Amino acid sequence: MTTPEKLTLGSLYFEEPLTLFDREEPFYNLLNDLQTKGWSIQDDFFSTRFTKVLRDEAHGLPVEEMQRAGVGRQQDHQVLLEARRDYIRWIDPESAIRHDFLNAMELLRVALNRHLFIGLFDYEAHFARYEKGAFYEKHIDAFKGESNRILSTVLYLNDDWQEGDGGELVIYDEHNPEIELGRFFPKNGRMAFFLSECFYHEVKVAKRTRHSIAGWFRVNNTTGQNLDPDQ
Ligand code: OGA
Ligand code: MN
Repeated sequence: MTTPEKLTLGSLYFEEPLTLFDREEPFYNLLNDLQTKGWSIQDDFFSTRFTKVLRDEAHGLPVEEMQRAGVGRQQDHQVLLEARRDYIRWIDPESAIRHDFLNAMELLRVALNRHLFIGLFDYEAHFARYEKGAFYEKHIDAFKGESNRILSTVLYLNDDWQEGDGGELVIYDEHNPEIELGRFFPKNGRMAFFLSECFYHEVKVAKRTRHSIAGWFRVNNTTGQNLDPDQ
């Protein structure tokens, strides 16, 4: 069997195949963290080259082609500017690099299911762009039993993020959401993972444009009546 770190994806954009990971056993620490504490911060999760291409893709998206993010899903989708102020663009595999990103997350989905037995069904993700002054107040990505979002992921794509640039991700304690577990700068190549139903989190005011890809692994809650996921 091919191990994930050896897998290369054949984007037509590249003269040579793009290696996804620079290290051996790229999921080892992540799987361990998720199993023991339910969240994880992984620096340089993908290879330098793959991160660079994703970074260029995110920075090249014109803001006019993005939509103001809302809070809630489907019918109750509202644009609540007090709570959230980013621009998003859902990822369809229309470009080679987006296709590669979704393929990479598919490798991770299979590894998560194999090691943690959590039955993840698919993955949805969007580019997110916080302009200067934007933030996302403390929230949870899924309410128990009301959503199919199981594991949240955020990949940061910002060069030279400095102490004073703000925009930190704050993760709160699962049992006492008043307690901060940690604050993390959205530095290039860093990826955050946390169980969607368990961890309140927040994005502090960004003092400069902040780029990321946020995504969610989901389970299939389809019943006879409702298609869920609906896409
Ligand atoms: C989100 C979110 C965190 C971040 O998009 O739901 O919480 O650090 N993002 O961008
Ligand atoms: Mn969130």
